[in-house]
Amino acid sequence: MQGRLADRIRQRSQSVRTRMLDLAAERDDVIALGRGDPDLPTPAHIVEAGRRALADGATHYTHPMGLPALREAIARTLADADGLDYSVDEIVVTTGGQEAVFAAMFACINPGDEVLVPSPGYTSYDQAIELAGGIPVAVPTYESGDFALTAAAVEARVSPRTRMVCLLNPSNPTGAVTPPDEVEALAGLAAKHDLVVVSDEIYARLVYDGARVLPVARLPGMKERTITINGFSKAYAMTGWRVGYLATSSSMVTALTEVHHGLTICAPAVSQHAALAALEGSQDCVEEMRRTYDERRRVMCRALDEMGLTYGKPRGAFYVYANVANTGLAASEFCVRLLEDARVMIFPGSLFGDHNDDFIRISLLQPLARIDEAVERMAGTVTALTGV
Ligand SMILES: Cc1ncc(COP(=O)(O)O)c(C=O)c1O
Repeated sequence: MQGRLADRIRQRSQSVRTRMLDLAAERDDVIALGRGDPDLPTPAHIVEAGRRALADGATHYTHPMGLPALREAIARTLADADGLDYSVDEIVVTTGGQEAVFAAMFACINPGDEVLVPSPGYTSYDQAIELAGGIPVAVPTYESGDFALTAAAVEARVSPRTRMVCLLNPSNPTGAVTPPDEVEALAGLAAKHDLVVVSDEIYARLVYDGARVLPVARLPGMKERTITINGFSKAYAMTGWRVGYLATSSSMVTALTEVHHGLTICAPAVSQHAALAALEGSQDCVEEMRRTYDERRRVMCRALDEMGLTYGKPRGAFYVYANVANTGLAASEFCVRLLEDARVMIFPGSLFGDHNDDFIRISLLQPLARIDEAVERMAGTVTALTGV
């Protein structure tokens, strides 16, 4: 089969994920803490706006860059919430943040260009970079530093072929928030080495313990070289609507719009109306969801402490990245054991580009009662393995 596929398609091993999904399908009452899809419903006023839009005929293409009213609302939100100064013509509504990632790579990367990506990280970045002909260069982050990206680690991997650096702030899978002083140092590096910066802030509304995301495009001179990516999937529990956006300088926006048009023409019209309602309505729903995830995060971290498992303290997103090395099993084996013995499905860090098979990504996307139950079951498996 490989003979029929293009050379640039590298067959990634999905064997662990496939095996786990197959095992889960054979069992009843599996508690899934695997995927990054919120269990909470899209808030009712947003769904209602989508319903109304459909009835009113929002069933056609929109302007490729997105509905002007939505882009105006995004520009206002970026200004009010993030202190960013983008005009309506510097914003492109995309089919999820995912499409924005691919548009950024196709628009900016030449074959052989190196792109610095935090590791562990969201592996769609590697895939997009490779499909664009580029070379992803992993920048390691460590449990001892709560997986925060550091400018020093980035600089150590800059080469004459480096074209771009990506920030996932907060990060999937670790929940790490890049400290503002590191963002400032990264901005300095980008200027010094003339790098494009992709700043994925899709989880930026979901931060805890007073953490603060400093949007890199806010720093002097950075808007010109930055593509800010954001979206509605995570903060508004709208994964299935497929709507996100990118914001960039006028010098890059035309190329990005062209690529976006080639990929999907425009984001779904009905979803754009729903997204507009999300931004124009009360933001209390976001705060309520944030509090819900925060409570789950605290419960999970406390339970991991009790199990004797360590983790990078997550200050954003809705994941906990935990170290299972002291169970004596590789993380991928641990995840299979957990599913077989305890009917809890969690994915190993190897699915997030982590070559060190010690970590698991626990997503906090089940009601608290189910998380309590999952924790109890998990503790049984951990105790059986560690004897603690
Ligand atoms: C860091 C990050 N960026 C982008 C995306 C894509 O999100 P969506 O396309 O649903 O907006 C995800 C999804 O998990 C993510 O974790």
